[in-house]
Amino acid sequence: MAYVVDDKCIMCKHTTCISVCPVDCFYEGENMLVINPDECIDCGVCEPECPELAIYATDDAEDKWYKHNQYFSQIWPNITEEKDPMPEYDKYSAIENKTELFSKNPGG
Ligand code: SF4
Ligand code: F3S
Repeated sequence: MAYVVDDKCIMCKHTTCISVCPVDCFYEGENMLVINPDECIDCGVCEPECPELAIYATDDAEDKWYKHNQYFSQIWPNITEEKDPMPEYDKYSAIENKTELFSKNPGG
């Protein structure tokens, strides 16, 4: 089992999730974060920290967002300190499916 981040994070990126992670396993893209599911120790403390409800637990290695988190956590930089959310997060938090807004570019 591991916790992963889904498309509700896209264009919001509050980053309040990362400060509670005891193993620093969040990685930053241009407009979303992901968790490395192989480093996550399944403590669950990040899940209630996300205002967008973007974090969930899964034990399905074929799950779309599990695979997405596993892939991008290996090519994006680690993020360990909170930063401001994205400038128009309140506009984007209301959007239902944000997958097509996803950027593959690394954050930082
Ligand atoms: Fe980190 Fe725990 Fe969240 Fe996994 S469940 S990403 S270890 S805070
Ligand atoms: Fe994203 Fe929620 Fe963390 S919006 S950056 S998963 S607090």
